[in-house]
Amino acid sequence: MAATWGEIFPQLMAAGLLASRGVKEKLESHPDPLGLIAELRSKGIKGKLTPEMIPSSTSKSNPGRVIAPIAEPAIENISMRNNMPDWNREDFPMDAVDAMIDIKVHYDITGNSTTEGKMGDITNAFNDRLEKLRKLIISNSDLPRRPIDIARLYQERARFQGRENKAVAIGLVNDPRHTKNGHLMFSLEDSSGEMNCLLMDRKGDDRIIEHSQIIEAGLMPDDVVGVSGTFSQNGDMFYVDDLHFPMQDKHDKAYAEQGVSVAFLSDIHVGSKTFLEAQWHKMVGWFHSEPLARTIKYLVLSGDCVDGVGIYPGQDNELAIKDLYGQYTRFAELLELLPDWVECLMLPGNHDAVRPAEPQPTLEPDIQQDYNNTKFVGNPCDFSLDGVRVLSYHGKSIDDFVAGLRTVTYRDPVEAMRQMLRRRHLAPQWGGKTPLSPEPEDGLVIRDVPDIFVTGHVHGHACVDFRGTTLVCSSTWQDQTSYQRMLGFQPKPCMLTVVNLGTHKSISIPFA
Ligand SMILES: [Fe+2]
Ligand SMILES: [Fe+2]
Repeated sequence: MAATWGEIFPQLMAAGLLASRGVKEKLESHPDPLGLIAELRSKGIKGKLTPEMIPSSTSKSNPGRVIAPIAEPAIENISMRNNMPDWNREDFPMDAVDAMIDIKVHYDITGNSTTEGKMGDITNAFNDRLEKLRKLIISNSDLPRRPIDIARLYQERARFQGRENKAVAIGLVNDPRHTKNGHLMFSLEDSSGEMNCLLMDRKGDDRIIEHSQIIEAGLMPDDVVGVSGTFSQNGDMFYVDDLHFPMQDKHDKAYAEQGVSVAFLSDIHVGSKTFLEAQWHKMVGWFHSEPLARTIKYLVLSGDCVDGVGIYPGQDNELAIKDLYGQYTRFAELLELLPDWVECLMLPGNHDAVRPAEPQPTLEPDIQQDYNNTKFVGNPCDFSLDGVRVLSYHGKSIDDFVAGLRTVTYRDPVEAMRQMLRRRHLAPQWGGKTPLSPEPEDGLVIRDVPDIFVTGHVHGHACVDFRGTTLVCSSTWQDQTSYQRMLGFQPKPCMLTVVNLGTHKSISIPFA
């Protein structure tokens, strides 16, 4: 008895069979696909189902070898509609299958890394950062006057000791610290010199809320900020009246004409014993049956798609697939289960088989060859989808923001993303937890404000607006690890974030 794909697909899932490319067509034209699946199931055959394994009739032929058997996924009914208040079919003028692929990459380090890691390269990287962010501070921040080089400012400090004549400087922050009295001290450095700065936490009527917020959070080492203020009587301290960041007040989003959508995932961690495979198949089933899924043209995978090998001590005991290439092959098979109309963009994270120093180039051609419908890019990557600007960054530096700023925690990683946008920099701190590659052009500067800014790494989940930019902290597909259990950290796995590129409405769909 012939059957439709809607009838065939749940049976494949229930049998633990993964349909690779070409299988759908072959089963749809098969005289008895459900009988065939039942036959394979009765023989205990699971895993990848290739077209060669499907005989053209129900004859008892050998269905072929079994590749990578999987645990039988639990089929559960999820009531999607309850979680989709914003989702209207009318919001999507066309199906993804009818839309053109329109991806433009604006920044990717792949093939463009020129550093030799020498001292001169580090100096050049910092000079480039300072220059780029200085321009942004001048254009976006309300400076009371033009900034002056720190050495000249210091020579002329007598002019800037009265309250009425403020001086302005822009530089890199060194050694930020809180004093015993709760004030914020740091030194500010440019290519001409360095000066000590103090931002006072005033109380009572003198209190300035923005200052209190900055003081509460602190500053990151190697932040680039502007200061305006005056010198102390003896000239060895600069009293900061105002701090200036390179962020604009408000960003105007671009809207796509095609009206298809983009979905976000990261940190799949295939190869780990804690990879949530059954939930993946639940999502695959959703992609093949849910009308909203027909609008998903792009899937952005923001790093750590595999668990990697030798990433942390004792990782070997937690791996279900111990071979690195095997992990990538398995992930390729899992992606292959998604409908053909979904185009993936995949970037590396700190678990991937590329250099750890950021910006990271993309994965090697040897790995890429297993994948269809996938564009490989570096980390971070700044690109446009149908004219909507997306900045995707794996998010390793969130570890530094948690350590450096008192307002950022792993429970609220979106605050780190707000702080990155405020600084227009993805990973300011040199020598912290994020290894950085000193490129002549600092690739971690946020040159253009994105319409959508996405990170992963911390295995949380969020989708919020911040001054006109949609911030997506994309969800993981890994259950709590023993390390996270030790830290008491609860991940938020198996959430697919979908953003309509035409309206910027967003939906998060749970598969856990
Ligand atoms: Fe991860
Ligand atoms: Fe990560």
